[in-house]
Amino acid sequence: MNKHLTLKVYLLFFTNLFLLISCSSDQDSEEYQLIPEEDEQYSGGKNGTSFNTSEEAFGFFSTHLSAEQQSDFGIGNSFFRQSWVAAPASTTARDGLGPFYNAVSCSSCHFKDGRGRPPMFNGELGTGLLLRLNLPQTDAHGGYLPETTYGNQLQDVAILGQDKEGEYTITYQYFNETYPDGTQVELRKPVYSIINLNYGTLSGSVSISPRIANQMVGMGLLEAIPETTLLGYQDISDANGDGISGKANYVYDVVTQTTQMGRFGWKANQPNVKQQVAGAFSGDIGITSSLFPNENIPTGFNGSTIPNGGTPEISDETLQKVVLYSSSLSVPARRNYQTQQILQGKEIFNRLDCAKCHIPKMTTSSTYYIEAFRNQVIRPYTDLLLHDMGTELADNAPDYLANGNEWRTPPLWGIGLIPTVNNHTYLLHDGRARNVEEAILWHGGEAATAKSNFKNLNQADRQKVIDFINSL
Ligand code: HEC
Ligand code: HEC
Repeated sequence: MNKHLTLKVYLLFFTNLFLLISCSSDQDSEEYQLIPEEDEQYSGGKNGTSFNTSEEAFGFFSTHLSAEQQSDFGIGNSFFRQSWVAAPASTTARDGLGPFYNAVSCSSCHFKDGRGRPPMFNGELGTGLLLRLNLPQTDAHGGYLPETTYGNQLQDVAILGQDKEGEYTITYQYFNETYPDGTQVELRKPVYSIINLNYGTLSGSVSISPRIANQMVGMGLLEAIPETTLLGYQDISDANGDGISGKANYVYDVVTQTTQMGRFGWKANQPNVKQQVAGAFSGDIGITSSLFPNENIPTGFNGSTIPNGGTPEISDETLQKVVLYSSSLSVPARRNYQTQQILQGKEIFNRLDCAKCHIPKMTTSSTYYIEAFRNQVIRPYTDLLLHDMGTELADNAPDYLANGNEWRTPPLWGIGLIPTVNNHTYLLHDGRARNVEEAILWHGGEAATAKSNFKNLNQADRQKVIDFINSL
């Protein structure tokens, strides 16, 4: 190794790039090999990663759960997967569906614990896209008021004998984005219309926020990240002048009746997995719980003659099992993470500023209630903070502190297996992106520089970034 190379090795190690120089006998050629970081393949930490790359890849529990937790996971799984039915029914543990809902089970939207997609044709139901509705006025807790008649979500199905709330249609506007090298990529932007409303007109000031069902992996690990770690990434007034701010959402916790940092959902509007799950039971399936004891029905609808499935319809005990299930699905391990193509893609990803929001690595707390997820070094590729992503991605629907331009950085772990598990490649909050490249090209606002950095790469380097993301 010549002196120059030795110095380079030294410097690279101490800038933490973990590069290894493979010395060539030819002193003129300074080709070097990138090597992975130690344990880089364990995206969900040693205890929260599974090594299955099949279509079941998102469905595994952590083998470090206690025996009791593993059994609860199994029961939670069955309540997640199986269909709820209208009351009264012989399966009383699973009745109470509706009267208004979007899907009969969690897994119809989170199919195989994976990612939903927009409908392929208008009227296709239960694919995992729903429309949130709200008004510009806030309530006492800083949340935005639900739409006066239809509440905070359009429910496009109802039980037999009742009229659904309404339907929506999507039309796409197509346009091209051009790279400096002349390559063109077609993008499509959805436009929503709510139609066939059965319970009166929508308030004129309603905002519509489309949301796609996320993949379910690693929720407990995200919940276990210490709040101080996440707040450390906040830079609300962009004090460091890098154009990227990032702010935490603060939302209402219905159990403790306090304001808490939001972590879940595309606008981080849920403080914890439990409230997210209970909210899904209420809004998406029409199942009441102790957290949300009232049926989610249009204002003025008389539901008194419709039998319910108990008060509440899901017991605290069963709810807790679905919460445990939802919290402990393992994150798939990285694939091909040691190849030069992907290591180079990772290096470019970091250099382009992508990693300023999609934070590669953090450590979970030492006190989280699921012991297996304590002290885990995880690689979620998110900061769970809100970022202004520009007007093109905006839904103009505020959600607590999130304004109409702001979205939570989604974790990128598992993203490369969505095609295997869910048989599609649709990304972003509304599934408008038809692949990773389109998702990147939709970045704007605080991510505008990262996007233009990406656009300025040559085709081979762009592909490296895309291949890296697909290895997550
Ligand atoms: C109608 C489709 C649909 C159904 C049914 C559904 N979900 Fe979801 N789920 C979504 C959508 C959409 C989001 C994103 C919500 C948002 O951004 O507000 C989501 C988000 C989540 C999240 C948070 C994901 C994240 O990355 O922050 C969890 C956990 C979750 N759902 C669990 C469940 C459980 C458990 C059930 C069954 C009780 C369920 N969901 C039923 C559509 C659905
Ligand atoms: C300013 C913060 C920020 C930066 C910088 C950033 N992103 Fe994102 N990224 C986001 C947010 C927020 C979303 C979700 C936007 C939405 O759904 O509307 C997102 C979405 C994505 C998605 C789709 C994820 C999914 O689950 O659907 C991919 C892929 C992605 N980003 C890759 C990148 C790459 C590559 C770069 C660098 C070129 C980058 N991001 C830079 C914040 C950022």
